[in-house]
Amino acid sequence: MSQPAIRPLVAGNWKMFGLRSALAQIERLRALLAANPPGADCAICPPFTLIDAAIKITAGSAIAIGAQDCHSADEGAHTGDIAAPMLADLGVRHVIIGHSERRTDHGEGDSLVMAKACAAHKAGLSAIICVGETLAQRDAGAALDIVIKQLEGSVPAKANAANSIIAYEPVWAIGTGRTPQTDDIAQMHQAIRSYLTNRFEDGGSMRILYGGSVKPKNAGELMSVAHVNGALVGGASLDSGDFNAILDAY
Ligand code: G3P
Repeated sequence: MSQPAIRPLVAGNWKMFGLRSALAQIERLRALLAANPPGADCAICPPFTLIDAAIKITAGSAIAIGAQDCHSADEGAHTGDIAAPMLADLGVRHVIIGHSERRTDHGEGDSLVMAKACAAHKAGLSAIICVGETLAQRDAGAALDIVIKQLEGSVPAKANAANSIIAYEPVWAIGTGRTPQTDDIAQMHQAIRSYLTNRFEDGGSMRILYGGSVKPKNAGELMSVAHVNGALVGGASLDSGDFNAILDAY
């Protein structure tokens, strides 16, 4: 059966990096993309403090702005948290949910991740839902089972290709300079695709991103793997030249 054409997405996750001076990288990226329009959708997810300014800088450009987390409630007495409608109100388009750093640092489990994804959907945001195994789980031969279980627990029943993007990020590949063998990525993305196709009517069209040490030098190889529909990029997204070079894989 032929696969539907899927427009890839390359999204930059700035994590907890970036003072206001870093907005210059977004200005530069905007200029680079205007001169050389990418063959993929492009998003930058800066820290909350830079979102409003980033949205103003990227107005009318090919760059969508995303956030890195949201609360599961629309509003309430939750000191220090940010609700999905607040992000939508700013013009945010995507929100990363269930990143492994939040699963680890903040003890977020699948049910909370699903509740946050539902909140994002309700606010009209696209949820980039992250899954991925640890090295111990991979070494134990449990990677596929772990990721499918995370999908089962984290992806809402009402997910579809417009409101949800899956990001497969092996925990051991994040920020380490290590990446899985392309055969292992292909096997995992095929398993995720089969899961999505079985569960959702348009699961064959949902984007599945790969994340973990994506750099300009390996982007071409990683992005050419079957069912890899783009990348979630950490460190290399902080430099507009590197990020643009990754977009050049498309
Ligand atoms: O969300 C992206 C991320 O976890 C990957 O980070 O620095 O390995 O590209 P990095």
